[in-house]
Amino acid sequence: MRLNSPQINLITKACMKASRSLIRDFGELENLQVSSKGPGDFVSSADKRTERILIEELQKAHPDYGIITEETGIINKSNLNNKWIIDPIDGTMNFLNGIPQFAISIGYEEDGEIKCGVIFNPILNEMFCAEKGNGAYLNNSRIRASNKKKLKDSIIVTGGPKGDSKIREKIFSEYIKVSNNVSNVRKFGSAALDIAYVACGRFDGYWQREINYWDIAAGIIILKEAGGFVNFFDENENLPLKKNILATNSNIHEELMSLINKKDIE
Ligand code: IPD
Ligand code: CA
Ligand code: CA
Repeated sequence: MRLNSPQINLITKACMKASRSLIRDFGELENLQVSSKGPGDFVSSADKRTERILIEELQKAHPDYGIITEETGIINKSNLNNKWIIDPIDGTMNFLNGIPQFAISIGYEEDGEIKCGVIFNPILNEMFCAEKGNGAYLNNSRIRASNKKKLKDSIIVTGGPKGDSKIREKIFSEYIKVSNNVSNVRKFGSAALDIAYVACGRFDGYWQREINYWDIAAGIIILKEAGGFVNFFDENENLPLKKNILATNSNIHEELMSLINKKDIE
């Protein structure tokens, strides 16, 4: 079985269409132009083209919906009650280095709540999707977060800090603190896939500061529908699209949250 609703069908079709040129580009990386958005933040012509195709496809079905995208910003500001949240390539640095750990990520939010989401890694042909109340899937199979009970046995994934982060030291010390209390910490370079991997039990948890909403929007519903927990901490109401996220299986959430909140380096 797999999810089969109009919204999911629309998103997966858009992903399939946009991924054709993405796969081609991945095979011919040397021809890609790259520009820099800021320290450590790159955008390639593939990001822009993928985003254009996704927007075109989604707008054909719902011209009135709002859209928040990484490369273009906000489209159709007048309807933000129904909106797509798009990251055309999450893991651009991996993509540009020929590492097949990147994905298209699309979430659909209604009245402030993410209702469905798709994360698609076109190189591994892995499509993670979920819809509220209907479970989470990887291709045709139902997925569930892991059942690992102890933090000390868990594999945790994270990302950052970005080059221009003002809290680099805090992020590094948090990394040490978590590393000292879990089995292993990984950095894979795609936040969307990091959460998707928690949803299917490959990792037991994920946390990251200063992440953009489009990196994680689709992942939120996928993990929740897979039985995992997601929460945002240290929120800044002036920056609603910047998040600090903790996303784990249902067993280790509290323990990892208190560890992150603990002041001293252990
Ligand atoms: C980045 C990736 C990375 C995370 C960064 C994101 P991008 O997205 O998700 O894992 O650590 O914070 O910006 O730039 O490849 O779309
Ligand atoms: Ca991203
Ligand atoms: Ca991106």
